[in-house]
Amino acid sequence: MNFKVKNDTFLRALLRQPTEYTPLWMMRQAGRYLPEYRATRRTAGSFLGLCKNPDFATEVTLQPLDRFPLDAAILFSDILTVPDAMGLGLYFAEGEGPKFERPIVTEADVKALHVPDIGTDLKYVTDAVSQIRKALDGRVPLIGFSGSPWTLACYMVEGGGSDDYAKVKTMMYKNPKMMHSILEVTAQTVTAYLNAQIEAGAQAVMIFDSWGGALSHSAFHEFSLAYTQRIVEGLIKEKDGVRIPSIVFTKGGGLWIESIANSGCDAVGLDWTMDIGVARQKVGNKVALQGNLDPTVLFATPDVIRNEVEKVLSSYGYGSGHVFNLGHGISQHTDPENAAALVQAVHELSKKYH
Ligand code: CP3
Repeated sequence: MNFKVKNDTFLRALLRQPTEYTPLWMMRQAGRYLPEYRATRRTAGSFLGLCKNPDFATEVTLQPLDRFPLDAAILFSDILTVPDAMGLGLYFAEGEGPKFERPIVTEADVKALHVPDIGTDLKYVTDAVSQIRKALDGRVPLIGFSGSPWTLACYMVEGGGSDDYAKVKTMMYKNPKMMHSILEVTAQTVTAYLNAQIEAGAQAVMIFDSWGGALSHSAFHEFSLAYTQRIVEGLIKEKDGVRIPSIVFTKGGGLWIESIANSGCDAVGLDWTMDIGVARQKVGNKVALQGNLDPTVLFATPDVIRNEVEKVLSSYGYGSGHVFNLGHGISQHTDPENAAALVQAVHELSKKYH
């Protein structure tokens, strides 16, 4: 029991302890589908202006919680703050998504990579974590996060988003040593970064391996999971006598759920492609599961949403160990009323399973 949090349902579910209902939060719950987010973003001037100012980051983190009775808050930031701090120069081109001024191309670029000083270069993130934790005042737990080394490397080598990951996968096959050097320094950075978030007040941490699913079976294990596992092993497991659970989310990772569950994490995040009941059978009592409603369901009506929520809940079945979530981030075109319908449906319909 975590006495510091009034609603600790989320933390208990991650540790597979009994709960009264299935807790939920939504990936990208603070974002453009909320008019109040768009207003704060206009005041801040840009998305990075929000991330780099702890006052704005706190404000937008709390916005979805003021609207919906969610069971967890997630730090408002981005996974790409890490390569930015490693010297790559993050920027957002209007309507084009994230880009780097200095992507990694040559061996010299790799040699120049360094573990940043988290306390200076990413101080705006740890400051935001402590400020959000204070503002939450124990309402719900705060989740800290990072990208996985593989997912970060995709952006670092491609220089931005990609449809086919041709540059980063070419490097992986042609020059695996170079790829491993990038992943090594990134894994060290991510471990220090997540531990700094925990020290600042994050009560659970999540690793987003959004592009792990682009890899072959053997490449996933060698270039993605091996590094995620090292990070999980290096995480602070307990703070002030309270367990800090970790969640590993691999988009497209359903095929590898057993090996992900063996990484030492407390919970595995699922995208919407896998039946969560089958996933539960495969992982047994090893980990909790987080997921896995297709975010597109939120484009339908409240009745449809309720029906689809029931399918996920009944597939997971009776007992604890399930944190309800979307299988990926909520779309910016979602009607907030439908997000409200989702939260209500999960809270109401899940009671009978506990
Ligand atoms: O979940 C939350 O509410 C916390 C905030 C959060 C953001 N990004 C805010 C954001 C989190 C956890 C992320 C993680 C993230 N960022 C991932 C991993 C999760 C996933 O979606 O697979 C990735 C791959 C990124 C990189 C990234 N950041 C992209 C590709 C984009 C552009 C796509 C888009 O939706 O515009 C971003 C920008 C971004 N990150 C926005 C938000 C709210 C939109 C920025 C805006 O306001 O214009």
